[in-house]
Amino acid sequence: MALIIACLSQKGGVGKSTLSRAIATEAWKSGLSVKLADLDTQQGTVAEWHRQRLDNGFDSVGSVEIFNNVDKALASAEGFDLLVLDGTPRASKGTLKMAQCADLVILPTCVSRDDLVPAIRLAYDLEEKKVDKRKLVFALVRVTTPAEIQDGRDFITQSGFSVFDGCLLEKPAYRLAQNNGLSVTETRYKTLNDKANELLESIIEHLQQG
Ligand SMILES: Nc1ncnc2c1ncn2[C@@H]1O[C@H](COP(=O)(O)OP(=O)(O)OP(=O)(O)O)[C@@H](O)[C@H]1O
Ligand SMILES: [Mg+2]
Repeated sequence: MALIIACLSQKGGVGKSTLSRAIATEAWKSGLSVKLADLDTQQGTVAEWHRQRLDNGFDSVGSVEIFNNVDKALASAEGFDLLVLDGTPRASKGTLKMAQCADLVILPTCVSRDDLVPAIRLAYDLEEKKVDKRKLVFALVRVTTPAEIQDGRDFITQSGFSVFDGCLLEKPAYRLAQNNGLSVTETRYKTLNDKANELLESIIEHLQQG
């Protein structure tokens, strides 16, 4: 049975696909067999990104496919080491199902209250529906200053949830990399790649503790 990581949110545009791509990329590079499932049939962002990646001559990150239902995505992961589920822009029935079957649920969020409040609401909702709280972990994405990062962390922890140590800074270079089919760990700038990898290391650490 594949290890399952789901990137989920209530609100769109918070970094689910960005993190899904980075996780798949680094897992593949570390030698795992990876299935990256894009549940967003309307946009197919991750599938399109992977097509771009291959088109530009970069290595595959595994098997990338679009699914219109969670069960099909789960069935497709047979024989893989890791299944990464990239959730839909809005929380749906499938969101709960993904959270239930995942070993780790990553809830990416930016730090404005507009983003944090719905993110916390989704976490409460999942907890209420009996998803084990220990596997729900927030990831701070598109953050800028240390003060902003601390503010986001405080908001999440005071709401009773945990948040990864690393975070993803808001940088045009991350967008540019993704435009070309690369992940946020593969930009032209070593410092940015290292910074993105810190977040991925926090994710791996959490999985090892779990
Ligand atoms: N750290 C960052 N710095 C700059 N731009 C970023 C960063 N992270 C994500 N982005 C950009 O923000 C936008 C939204 O990110 P992404 O597509 O990962 O979010 P999403 O949650 O998957 O969105 P959707 O809900 O539509 O599926 C994208 O254009 C992406 O390139
Ligand atoms: Mg997306």
